[in-house]
Amino acid sequence: MLNGLDIKAGAVATASYNNIDGLCLFLCKECLAGLPKLGLPEQIQAAIGAYAKRHGDMFAIGTISELVIPQGESLLTVVIAGCGEGSECKPVAFRKAAGEAARALGKAKVTQAVAAAPILTNPKRGAYLEAIVEGLYLGAYSFDEFKSEAKKPTACVVTLCSAILEAEALVAKATVSAEAVCFTRDLVNRPGNVVNPKVMAEEARKLAATLPLEVEVLDEVQMAERKMGAILAVGQGSVNPPRLITLKYHGAEDAPYVAYVGKGITFDSGGISIKPDDGMGEMKDDMSGAGAVLGAMKAIASLGLKCNVLGILACAENMPGGKAQRPGDIVRAANGKTIEVISTDAEGRMVLADAVDYACKLGAKKVIDIATLTGAVIIALGKETSGIVANDDELVEQIKKAGKFAGENFWQLPSLPECKEAIKSDVADLLNSAGRPGGCITGGLFIGEFVGKDIPWAHLDIGGTSTATKSSGHKVKGGTGFGTLTLIKLAEAL
Ligand code: BES
Ligand code: MN
Ligand code: ZN
Repeated sequence: MLNGLDIKAGAVATASYNNIDGLCLFLCKECLAGLPKLGLPEQIQAAIGAYAKRHGDMFAIGTISELVIPQGESLLTVVIAGCGEGSECKPVAFRKAAGEAARALGKAKVTQAVAAAPILTNPKRGAYLEAIVEGLYLGAYSFDEFKSEAKKPTACVVTLCSAILEAEALVAKATVSAEAVCFTRDLVNRPGNVVNPKVMAEEARKLAATLPLEVEVLDEVQMAERKMGAILAVGQGSVNPPRLITLKYHGAEDAPYVAYVGKGITFDSGGISIKPDDGMGEMKDDMSGAGAVLGAMKAIASLGLKCNVLGILACAENMPGGKAQRPGDIVRAANGKTIEVISTDAEGRMVLADAVDYACKLGAKKVIDIATLTGAVIIALGKETSGIVANDDELVEQIKKAGKFAGENFWQLPSLPECKEAIKSDVADLLNSAGRPGGCITGGLFIGEFVGKDIPWAHLDIGGTSTATKSSGHKVKGGTGFGTLTLIKLAEAL
């Protein structure tokens, strides 16, 4: 049971539409012709046909049409989720539609449902099945840990009917992935007084206690021994000291390690370069990158994927305490480079500087960092697309492909050598901020300065995508868990 739902795989050939109070259908415009393949009771099939004749717009992605059909003494709620038309009929559309469908089933207080789709009568459509399961669970998510009287969702058992042979395994896999995204969302949605760097370390330790993961936590003393002056500088203004957390997953004999490195600022006040108070509370989500890495490591280890991954969480609280770093300070990172601190609010790149260097020192042969690094990425790409800055186009293609499977959008920004001029300092090696022009690019390039020579690297800026201002599709208002699913699908492809 996850978010009030329990999804099971069923066979469409033996599907029974008796003793249910909900029927959930996923239809694109062309799929409608395949409806008879589901073997629905005649009365229901006729009702849907009649409805569709009048509502040509019912197939728009995520549109919900609800028919309530009397069944003897009781009622059957039929939820039809639009999955687009023509080339739109892709797993991404089904994931979104399923998110909307889950909330409709919840509102209708359905307890026993059958979910079906003509497309799932094709045994080769496993990706659609996975997307539906992920979408249902993710759309049903709600965060009410801090509500004294949380409204309990109506528990609903959903039998998802298909002709896919490995349906049971795919449902199990999609469930693990959805659980991981919800785990990330919970971490992001919890406030800064609850989630601090120590708590992030405890969460990592909890995972390692039950899953095939090795955990290492560096405290501020151990970081000082390793000369990690950049992450220490960010953390020194808070009473909650920083932590550098590493989870190691060994799932393949001798494949090279890939490192996932997440920005884990558990609260970003801006430090001495303090942020305006308007919306500052949203900066509890500034550990979304670390959250995505932690969620992905949980799923990768649960699924026992055949790959080798290091998950590194660069955790600190950025506060303006009496020991805080100041604008103008010059600090030395673990790789020996010096940084002139222009803005203490450009802290993410500083914690990541030491973390990506650590990943390389641990032997990572590829590095992907993920961070709510800039507000500039929102200006450049909006709230639906994450930015990529990278030194390796092949790695970018792999990430974009994994993103497509996950229903998460990425867009690569140019990283011209000329742009690196902007982060050169007169008095140190690097500036931590080059101001507003190309802010997303210069932020990424700064991190790239700490990646080992010839190591393929990509930086994912999730500043816009880590939270949603309203629920839509499989996204629910608040932390989205963006990146978790892409990192899981990427590990599957490694
Ligand atoms: N965590 C913020 C970026 C952010 C802001 C993400 C708003 C999502 C919404 C980051 O630490 C930050 O403050 N970045 C600065 C960088 C600047 C000082 C170079 C920014 O974007 O203004
Ligand atoms: Mn900041
Ligand atoms: Zn930040």
